[in-house]
Amino acid sequence: MASFALAHTNLALVKYWGKENEKLRLPSAPSLSLTLDAFYTKTKLSFSKEDRFVLDGKEEKGKEAQRVFSYLSALLSFFRLPPSHFLVDSQNFVPKSAGFASSASAFCALAAAFGKEMGLSLSKRELSVASRLGSGSAARSVFGGFVLWKEGRESEESFAVPIEEKPSMPICVLYLSFGAEKKKVSSTEGMRLSKTSPFFSAWRQECRKACKEARKAIEDNSFERLGQISERNACQMHALTLSCGFSYLSSYSLKAFDLAKEIREEGVSCYWSCDAGSNAALLCRKEDLNFVREKAERAFEGAVSCFPASSGPGVEAWSED
Ligand code: DP6
Repeated sequence: MASFALAHTNLALVKYWGKENEKLRLPSAPSLSLTLDAFYTKTKLSFSKEDRFVLDGKEEKGKEAQRVFSYLSALLSFFRLPPSHFLVDSQNFVPKSAGFASSASAFCALAAAFGKEMGLSLSKRELSVASRLGSGSAARSVFGGFVLWKEGRESEESFAVPIEEKPSMPICVLYLSFGAEKKKVSSTEGMRLSKTSPFFSAWRQECRKACKEARKAIEDNSFERLGQISERNACQMHALTLSCGFSYLSSYSLKAFDLAKEIREEGVSCYWSCDAGSNAALLCRKEDLNFVREKAERAFEGAVSCFPASSGPGVEAWSED
């Protein structure tokens, strides 16, 4: 028997950037995301004589394999289960070579496949907590559509909840990839450094406020307001890293920021976002996607690959003999 899970990635509209507890990945503030339909990870997990990790058909033995098996052993002790060995076979439908991170979909799929294989019958809340232990943003991939991840003092208190699993807002994301890059500062390290910023407590408060405002914007079906809140939050996250002497932004990321502004000046709603890398994302309404894409392709003259996405579903898991 083997267990399978399929989980989609998500884009944070209010970013998770800072941990109160690194080991438990308890965030310093709540965050809010949109699960995406275009990018996902499919994972097959089964018991095995020895630990083996196969990624996209290739046996992995390095750091990635280490992270997978130390996570699985953390899950075994979290659920008070005896030590076991596993074969993990994952396929990433995330364009990694274009510099996209896949830890959200990867760890959510792994947690769900683990829960299935161990017969744990996890609730969505428990699955979100388990996914969070692998990578913070994975906590949100349990649900589809708009998702809120709560902060919390204890491990069981910090989990994601669905806000609107099938959004009525016609929101789209156009990822702009400027090519793969070796991340100079990992998310974990970047968050650690950012906590030393004199602006960190303001950032924390801003995220709490932004989550409330974003929920209201979603409730009111206001793309305009949600876009403004997301862009402001992304700017604040990158201002925070700069205040600690490092940045993920490249000249391309900044050009994408200017482009969103230019598009708005032409009367089309378009907002910028950027995570812990130089690739940017543009938020727009579905009906404006082609226009925004053409604008981006013209502005970057072949230096960009565009990946459109819209709202996607939550994680699914099943077993097969
Ligand atoms: C900028 O979830 O990759 O994408 O918990 O250290 O694995 P770890 O961090 P990770 O960080 C994501 C950071 C972000 C913002 C976000 O997705 O909320």
